[in-house]
Amino acid sequence: MKISPSILSADFGRLNEEIRAICNAGCDFIHVDVMDGHFVPNHTIGPVVVKSVAKVATKPLDIHLMVQNNTFFVDLFAMFEPEYISFHIEEEKHPHRLIQKIKDYNIKPAIALNIHTPLEILDYLLEDLDMVLLMSVNPGFSGQKFIPSVIEKARKLKTMINKKGLKTLIEVDGGVNNNNVKELKHAGVDIVVSGNYVFSNPSYRYALSNLK
Ligand code: DX5
Ligand code: ZN
Repeated sequence: MKISPSILSADFGRLNEEIRAICNAGCDFIHVDVMDGHFVPNHTIGPVVVKSVAKVATKPLDIHLMVQNNTFFVDLFAMFEPEYISFHIEEEKHPHRLIQKIKDYNIKPAIALNIHTPLEILDYLLEDLDMVLLMSVNPGFSGQKFIPSVIEKARKLKTMINKKGLKTLIEVDGGVNNNNVKELKHAGVDIVVSGNYVFSNPSYRYALSNLK
């Protein structure tokens, strides 16, 4: 299992130190949650902070947009050369066009689905994606309770991916901890995002290896 710790749960007063520590502890990606106060009620970080995160991170960035104007934010964050940019399909009229735009920047595109959003929405798009992000909480806040129906959803998605012979990765985001990670692995999940579980542990290395 690959782990993408969400820096939303890090201590922002010591952000550089936190990024260095989590990278040294063996994470696979750095998950960056961008919220605009419109698509979700909460506000988080913009390019000023992401710039300093990108400077110290020794692991690739995994940017999760929870915003209304996806195209604007893709253009804004592309300069930090993340590995992935995920956008919410619930907020995008032209997902195919946006996927191409992300690819033109040499970034891997991913679509994020809220818990209620059916997998069928990925028909005609799945082939063009490097990853699908399945939300396992309602987006907006870290530290929420895991919604177990995502396990069945991940299993179904894995079957869709296999049937088409694709290599698309599945990422699950929200409320992931040592109690649910095993079931996620069995369902075919490749990457889990973890904020609260990892950053509230006094040893990041221990928390990461526990999840792995
Ligand atoms: C929720 C975010 C998640 C979240 C993860 O909107 O997308 O990345 O912060 O944090 P935990 O693991 O605490 O749910
Ligand atoms: Zn996220």
